[in-house]
Amino acid sequence: MQNKSLIVLNNHHQERNDGSQDVIQGLTNTPKSIPCRFFYDDRGSQLFEKICDLPEYYPTRTEAWILNQYAPEIAQVTGSCTLVELGSGSSTKTRSLLDAYTKNINADYINSCDLKSCKYLPVDISDGILKTSVLQLQTQYSSFEICGLLGTYDQALSYLASSLDEPQMIFFLGSSIGNFNQQESDHFFDRISQTLKPGDYFLLGVDLQKSPEILEAAYNDRQGVTADFNLNMLAHLNWYFQGNFDLNLFQHQAIYNQAEAQIEMYLHCQQAHTVSLDILNLQIPFRSGESILTEISRKFDLQTLQSQLLAHRLQPLKVWTDPKNWFALILSQA
Ligand code: AVJ
Repeated sequence: MQNKSLIVLNNHHQERNDGSQDVIQGLTNTPKSIPCRFFYDDRGSQLFEKICDLPEYYPTRTEAWILNQYAPEIAQVTGSCTLVELGSGSSTKTRSLLDAYTKNINADYINSCDLKSCKYLPVDISDGILKTSVLQLQTQYSSFEICGLLGTYDQALSYLASSLDEPQMIFFLGSSIGNFNQQESDHFFDRISQTLKPGDYFLLGVDLQKSPEILEAAYNDRQGVTADFNLNMLAHLNWYFQGNFDLNLFQHQAIYNQAEAQIEMYLHCQQAHTVSLDILNLQIPFRSGESILTEISRKFDLQTLQSQLLAHRLQPLKVWTDPKNWFALILSQA
């Protein structure tokens, strides 16, 4: 009965990539940056869950509303298929989809008297949150075969391309696509497009352009949870690379860059000093006032994004939004 519940992904074809090179490059560049996936150690994932409940952070609840409203329609369009979620985190919003597909399975069962079980494959880089949510979902969704994939998006897509032949829908929620710059997002759509077989689906959740006041409030919450989340990245690096970042010497800032239509999150250094990351054999001098870019979160225009999807052979079929047009779900077909 108990199938494999977790697969730890590794690189078969590429060089081993634990992020060292990206961290070295980011911290020796001017201006400095750190790849945003270093937000998500176990504490970072917990802090992100807290962000999702903040009054100012509208994306999660807006997307959850759209999902809750339209999941049955999504399930109807795609029919039963293997559900793959990139960056699943706690899989909270996913429940609407799992519920809708469960009803689908039951309907299939009645129609064909042939029980099809559905698969859900959540992908995440944070081991704690992935294990916890897989175990929880397994007890609640017994018609699903659930197996967590622990690793990066790239690792997951390589794994899927070589191992799945049933119809699938890959979904990528929460506007995490916003973390990619244009070039990275083109590369990502290429990877999705190569992984899917003709007829497969791609469901993308995106945060739409809106007034800077609303956007900036969402990333500068009054309780300071986003600030803790941002600073936690330094604690993560300390742990992972034996570093000595002093979290008290950095300050959180998030601004909306209207020209680029993106939120930019920074950590500003409060006083000149040098940080070392022993495992990387790296000494990093900081000037007072110098900043590290830790995240971009792009805000999208629906038309532009749909034509980009199409350019990558991902044909948009349907778009759902909330009444204020703050967030959108786009269902595309390969
Ligand atoms: C998970 C990348 C979608 O950009 O809104 C939330 C991360 N950063 N608050 C976002 C985040 C600061 C979030 N994404």
